Amino acid sequence: MLLIIILLLTLLKFTKWSVNPNPNRSFSLLITSFSGVCVAVQLRKQLNIESYTVFDENRDVGGTWLVNTYPGCACDIPSHLYSYSFEPNPNWSKVYSGQEEIWEYLRNVAKKYDVYANIKFNHRVISAEWDEKIGKWLVKVLDKPNNKEEIYIFDILISSAGALRVPNYPQQFEAFEGPKMHSAVWDSSIELKDKVVAIVGSGASAVQIIPEIVDKVKQLVVYQRNAAWVIPRTQFPFSSYTKWAFANIPGVQWSLRNLIFWSNEMYISAFGINTIMGKIAVMLGNYQLNRQVSDPELREKLTPKYPLGCKRVTPSNEYYPALGKPNVTLITSKITDVTKDSITNEDGTCVQPDVLILATGFKVQDFFAPLNITSKGGEDLLKKWKKEGPCAYMGIACHSTPNAFFILGPNTGLGHNSIVFTIECQVNWMIKVIEEMSKRNASVVSIKKSAEDEYMDSILTSMKTTVWGTYDCGSWYADHRGVITALWPESLVSYYNRTKDVNFSHMEFM
Ligand SMILES: NC(=O)c1ccc[n+]([C@@H]2O[C@H](COP(=O)([O-])OP(=O)(O)OC[C@H]3O[C@@H](n4cnc5c(N)ncnc54)[C@H](OP(=O)(O)O)[C@@H]3O)[C@@H](O)[C@H]2O)c1
Ligand SMILES: *[C@@H]1O[C@H](CO)[C@@H](O)[C@H](O)[C@H]1NC(C)=O
Ligand SMILES: *[C@@H]1O[C@H](CO)[C@@H](O)[C@H](O)[C@H]1NC(C)=O
Ligand SMILES: *[C@@H]1O[C@H](CO)[C@@H](O)[C@H](O)[C@H]1NC(C)=O
Ligand SMILES: *[C@@H]1O[C@H](CO)[C@@H](O)[C@H](O)[C@H]1NC(C)=O
Ligand SMILES: *[C@@H]1O[C@H](CO)[C@@H](O)[C@H](O)[C@H]1NC(C)=O
Ligand SMILES: *[C@@H]1O[C@H](CO)[C@@H](O)[C@H](O)[C@H]1NC(C)=O
Ligand SMILES: *[C@@H]1O[C@H](CO)[C@@H](O)[C@H](O)[C@H]1NC(C)=O
Repeated sequence: MLLIIILLLTLLKFTKWSVNPNPNRSFSLLITSFSGVCVAVQLRKQLNIESYTVFDENRDVGGTWLVNTYPGCACDIPSHLYSYSFEPNPNWSKVYSGQEEIWEYLRNVAKKYDVYANIKFNHRVISAEWDEKIGKWLVKVLDKPNNKEEIYIFDILISSAGALRVPNYPQQFEAFEGPKMHSAVWDSSIELKDKVVAIVGSGASAVQIIPEIVDKVKQLVVYQRNAAWVIPRTQFPFSSYTKWAFANIPGVQWSLRNLIFWSNEMYISAFGINTIMGKIAVMLGNYQLNRQVSDPELREKLTPKYPLGCKRVTPSNEYYPALGKPNVTLITSKITDVTKDSITNEDGTCVQPDVLILATGFKVQDFFAPLNITSKGGEDLLKKWKKEGPCAYMGIACHSTPNAFFILGPNTGLGHNSIVFTIECQVNWMIKVIEEMSKRNASVVSIKKSAEDEYMDSILTSMKTTVWGTYDCGSWYADHRGVITALWPESLVSYYNRTKDVNFSHMEFM
């Protein structure tokens, strides 16, 4: 089992609180999903802070796990690892749980730690500006139900906006006037039964959706630009006895969690160049393809033309068999024309779908957008990142944005293990910095430029040893310059190692 991470699709939230020894200091957070709930919980657990406010654009906690409701939506990291270390859940129904169960888990954790009491739902954070004179963040929030903008002042800004959040709608498909939806904005009122359905994309979302809808529709037309690497997945339900054992026999659940973590850790080397793990993973992919697709023409179309891992690997036992069904057409020729009711390809195929599904991914390279962050010196942070590349020391903090923490910031995504582990490392690191501020009675902390540059250089160097840094396959991991901005290039143990202690000499406290 090669286990791949899902990054969190999240929406923006904020928290405000005060901490001793200066009880009037306020902190603001952009909180979401696994990262946001983790921040809120750890503030209580570790710093004993209870007086904070959270802003969330949605109607409930959950972020990606609230928003994504497409058929088949699940996480392809086993649930016993894709959960907080401090909140194990013996009740996961199967190895890879679905969206509803994960969402329920997050709601339960938020309830247990009283996070709900502090959240303002349906509030969208619009902008955050660092005010040099007062050394605080000016934060503009839209109260959606009342359509009212409010300004808040915070000492510290924490963003937990995930990367897979803003749907990517390719302009090309705008002309289509029939019923259409993006995978991340699923509209269950659109009838698929007995319809001719077109789906664009072959990423993780499409791979999950296609097997779920294939038997319902009359005809399914799949538009694939690049074939994905698909590997086998070991999925099974846990019996009630097993669940009982997880809950009651000490060490059982902990051992499973460790087993999953360490076997995933081994796979990081699959994304290196010419590694044994890489060859094993390719064998698994080829095995799945050869075993499940007998038609040589279809097999050729489904054979990936780039090194494994360059784009996200998608584990599935159902995807290839679904594509082999009689009423499924896989089109790999370039889409040349989309009209109000048809899609035409370079090879002349013309399809008139009743429904169009865009499983076309997210605007990952826009980072926290549409939130505007104005950094030190009045500069638009996103513009700066787009020009010079994103900078974030430990993937968390930037020289140009004092008192700001980006949970799951640049270069923190994973191709091989659980992002929840990364989140916990980051939150613990951040808590230590905040504690140090209090100890030093500092009101402003910022990363030294030299430390940030050194850190970003080390990322570039590590990246050179990976498939991502050496092969341009046009994945969402890379920015417009072809530089990988979304992924952490090393093992998760190495990330833990880097973040377990804070090197305060890399920071300035004022
Ligand atoms: N199982 C899971 O845990 C799970 C499930 C869903 C999502 N996720 C996470 O979310 C990420 C995003 O997944 P995703 O599937 O939503 O998006 P994605 O991986 O970015 O895939 C988007 C797909 O749409 C295609 N596409 C985009 N624009 C197109 C256009 N104009 N014409 C034709 N095809 C176009 C892409 O083709 P090209 O490849 O040619 O660019 C790609 O196949 C994943 O990588 C993963 O991290 C995880
Ligand atoms: C905190 O604010 C309150 C009310 O504005 C004020 O009375 C109090 O002196 C302040 N405390 C400190 C430590 O600044
Ligand atoms: C798991 O399920 C059992 C039985 O339904 C319940 O008593 C228990 O509280 C649940 N545990 C958690 C952590 O949700
Ligand atoms: C397959 O497509 C044909 C022609 O569009 C249709 O008549 C038939 O009912 C479809 N079969 C299934 C199983 O949906
Ligand atoms: C955010 O920044 C962009 C570009 O700098 C600008 O066009 C937009 O109006 C800004 N939005 C807000 C809410 O400030
Ligand atoms: C902390 O700093 C504030 C002003 O920045 C000052 O009023 C206060 O006396 C300081 N407290 C300690 C313990 O140094
Ligand atoms: C952990 O960091 C130390 C230096 O801080 C380094 O010597 C060691 O090799 C690292 N271990 C791992 C597993 O990355
Ligand atoms: C902290 O950073 C300084 C300056 O880069 C370095 O000399 C020192 O070894 C670091 N300390 C630790 C514990 O890594």
